[in-house]
Amino acid sequence: MTNTDLTGRIAVVTGASRGIGEASARALDAAGARVVLSARTVADLERVAAALTNDPVIVPADLAQPRSGSVLAEQILAVVDGVDILVNNAGIPMRRTPDQLTEDDVDAVFSINVRSLLMLTVGLGPSMAGRGGGSIVNISSVAGLHGPLGRVAYAGTKGAVDAMTRALAADWGPKGIRVNSIAPGIITTAIWEESRNTVPGLIEELAQNVALKRWGDSDDIADVVLFFASDASRYVTGETLAVDGGMARVSTAKVKLPELDN
Ligand SMILES: NC(=O)c1ccc[n+]([C@@H]2O[C@H](COP(=O)([O-])OP(=O)(O)OC[C@H]3O[C@@H](n4cnc5c(N)ncnc54)[C@H](OP(=O)(O)O)[C@@H]3O)[C@@H](O)[C@H]2O)c1
Repeated sequence: MTNTDLTGRIAVVTGASRGIGEASARALDAAGARVVLSARTVADLERVAAALTNDPVIVPADLAQPRSGSVLAEQILAVVDGVDILVNNAGIPMRRTPDQLTEDDVDAVFSINVRSLLMLTVGLGPSMAGRGGGSIVNISSVAGLHGPLGRVAYAGTKGAVDAMTRALAADWGPKGIRVNSIAPGIITTAIWEESRNTVPGLIEELAQNVALKRWGDSDDIADVVLFFASDASRYVTGETLAVDGGMARVSTAKVKLPELDN
């Protein structure tokens, strides 16, 4: 048995109908976990479930709705014995400059990215504790780390996710529950599809901000989800790991230095 073997564990993945969530569900299933898939679009969840091998479960939810995080936790615990792993991945983008932003925009992005994430987590925490511990993996964003242009509300939600990650790690460490977050960089999912197809030069220009000079894909994130979900990261909690090819914390600006002696 390796440290990434998840045989016998139950994992919940939100936003599992496509993109990073779908890839994470596949990775956890391949490692042996039984995966509970959640999102709004049942047909897509059924497509994802059909490719999994460990008796996956579908529990649909619209996490924009008030109390949907707590209700989803109850619905999940009604169909599985308990939960060992929670991947809080569902999220929406919000591209608005400060002068464009409305209160409805702020409510929309905070309700899914922050409120429902927290309420689902606190709803499932006691089940994890009752099973001797567990692992929570929150998907935040480099937007919460580096101060992006024109995305103040989205950046606020992702900074909040990283802050809640550290606070819950403190609250639940004694119960054996680890809480970490992954801050993806630019990942080729549906979130970017329209701009990648319509904005000339965007693909190449953004890749220039990445040390590795390429966009990431969903599997680049899913492999790190598996690391945090599994015992391979058993002594890591309260961490945020940028999985961004070197974007948020690596300088890619070309600076011509004068000739130096040392
Ligand atoms: N792609 C990137 O470059 C990037 C970068 C940094 C962070 N992220 C973060 O990564 C996470 C996944 O994004 P992605 O790129 O994989 O995007 P995506 O392909 O658009 O997937 C988003 C997922 O969230 C679900 N979702 C959206 N609204 C929902 C709602 N109201 N209730 C329940 N589920 C909902 C979607 O399913 P349904 O539509 O079926 O509900 C879908 O499964 C997000 O939290 C995002 O902020 C992405």
